[in-house]
Amino acid sequence: MQSIVSPLLDWYATARRDLPWRHSPTPYAVWISEIMLQQTRVSAVIGYYTRWMQALPTVADLAAASPDLLHKLWEGLGYYSRVANLQRAAGQIMTDFGGELPRTVAELRTLAGIGDYTAGAIASIAYGIPAPAVDGNVLRVLARLTGDRTDVLTPAARTRATSLLAPIIPRDNASAFTQAMFELGALVCLPRHPSCAACPLRGQCYAYREDLVADLPVRVVKTKRRETDVTVLILSTPRGYVLTAPRAKGLLSGLYGLPYVEEALSPEDVPAACTEWGVYATHVTPLPPAKHVFTHVTWRLTGYLVSCTVDALPPGALLATAQEVRTRYAIPTAFAAYKAHIL
Ligand code: ADE
Repeated sequence: MQSIVSPLLDWYATARRDLPWRHSPTPYAVWISEIMLQQTRVSAVIGYYTRWMQALPTVADLAAASPDLLHKLWEGLGYYSRVANLQRAAGQIMTDFGGELPRTVAELRTLAGIGDYTAGAIASIAYGIPAPAVDGNVLRVLARLTGDRTDVLTPAARTRATSLLAPIIPRDNASAFTQAMFELGALVCLPRHPSCAACPLRGQCYAYREDLVADLPVRVVKTKRRETDVTVLILSTPRGYVLTAPRAKGLLSGLYGLPYVEEALSPEDVPAACTEWGVYATHVTPLPPAKHVFTHVTWRLTGYLVSCTVDALPPGALLATAQEVRTRYAIPTAFAAYKAHIL
């Protein structure tokens, strides 16, 4: 494995993309960018990242930011628990670490929203500590390189990847190494159509040699019905309830829906999520949990009744009175548990 280091770093030196968080990779910049990059494409993150760093250039600014500003800066990125955790962690950094991100993986792990991956990324990219940062890209690269058939969705695959990387991360260049691994997975060792001809590690790649690139990594698709967290928002405004237009495709096409997000929101996360529908929450009431079973997925539902004022509804959203909801719009049965709260 040691033999991958130098060709990988040589390749990265010329192939690396000019991304804004690489201009000045302070611990704060790396932290914010890595959290934004979770579940979100690089091209989508760039604008959000740039606006964020202009508005909130330091941890202290983030800790002191108003909820309105945070919601505005995150609006449209989704997974709103991420921004709530960012501010919680900023508070921890101010009180426990004197306003500077801590310098060890163990201390970074104590911060809200920071797991092994993010701690490894901050430690290696910003502080140059040889700590592995294993994400989906890295798992794919390593599975192909070594011919490892461990299911990449299991903790065992992560553990194995971490032990493969730990001894080879260059002590004097951990930052470039970590980013080079991400970059190889993002630009060359792609999930579907990898560019093996352009790969600096082709000569050492098990999958390339054995013609198994298309078969690796192994992902065991569970036949069991997937369960996913969904939060339904009954947005009650002075002029009616917010409904969302039929989705072009997906589970609920053709029916008017209640606004929802595919994550379990806590009550504190709700105001930020509401901005997606152009409303401002003034009061949040939790509703009982529920379940809805589709063919391939089960929704674990959380609901909130939210009193709000309307700013500007997004395209496709409309306001309907309780009477109209009952008589005019077909609401999918997935939301049946919450329809009774539309009065
Ligand atoms: N994906 C995850 N982290 C990344 C980073 N720092 N740069 C580019 N892509 C990434």
